[in-house]
Amino acid sequence: MFPKNLFNLNDLSPSAIEEIMSRAAYYKKRKNEVFSLLKGKNIVLSFWEPSTRTRVSFEMAVQKLGGRVINYSPDTSSEKKGENLKDTLNTLVALGADAVVFRHRSPGFLNLISRMVDIPFISGGEGCYQHPTQALLDLFTLRDRGVKLSEIKVIMVGDILHSRVARSHFYALSVFGAGLTLVAPPVLLPVELVPDSVSWSYVLDDVLPDGDVIYLLRVQQERQGKGLLPSLAEYSALYGINEKRISLLKKGALLMHPGPVNIGIEISRGAVEFLQRNYPQRILFQEQALNGVFVRMAVLDLLLGGK
Ligand code: CP
Repeated sequence: MFPKNLFNLNDLSPSAIEEIMSRAAYYKKRKNEVFSLLKGKNIVLSFWEPSTRTRVSFEMAVQKLGGRVINYSPDTSSEKKGENLKDTLNTLVALGADAVVFRHRSPGFLNLISRMVDIPFISGGEGCYQHPTQALLDLFTLRDRGVKLSEIKVIMVGDILHSRVARSHFYALSVFGAGLTLVAPPVLLPVELVPDSVSWSYVLDDVLPDGDVIYLLRVQQERQGKGLLPSLAEYSALYGINEKRISLLKKGALLMHPGPVNIGIEISRGAVEFLQRNYPQRILFQEQALNGVFVRMAVLDLLLGGK
């Protein structure tokens, strides 16, 4: 039912995703307990791009399951002295690594390295390809709020072109029947990327009132080609959530963001403060981050052989 590796959410069947959701709910209910499922196991965390939420929540998840975390950073390893990656991975296995959680900037990299040694690899985000555990924790967060996914429309706004989160959600949201509309300036929304079941628009104000969930994506400044966006101020004026646009939202609409949030670009400081003051239960950003721990516990549990 569960694949050996997790790079692409599409490798998980709907029933496997359902099992992850219910296992995450189990761990959330027992959030103060420590388990022994990974007792004696060494889980390597190797993040070759910056991360706060994914790295820390995977680390907490391993610890809460009773496993040991081994942090492996290319900047301080013998790679710097010329050791190639295959030899490095073989050394990690010889030292007792049981699985690796990897983040890397290049799509396809995890598939490549997973053929080098015979232990499971779990994606912590891979270039513009996929971020499977992010999509899982988003689904979990909505269901945990009592949202019926088959009855909602998600408006996803932002840098679709570079978004591994969007690519994971093309499958994740469709599994549960949620509608999805993508919104971005034309340079960040190549229509050939959009699956048949997903709609799209270049004009946020046209579609914003339809959204039960407004999912903001970070403008990935580190991945923007020169001149792709004329200016961040223009992006923010046309696609950012501000106090004026809050008045266009459907009553009770929820706001999500995988983080980190660029305040002043995807959403204005004024809009955040207005929502926090008046509708704090409608901003899910921190709830998503916290639920990442329980969802990653469930993923580690089910992929690494738990019952
Ligand atoms: N959402 C997400 O992947 O955040 P981090 O880059 O902080 O891990």
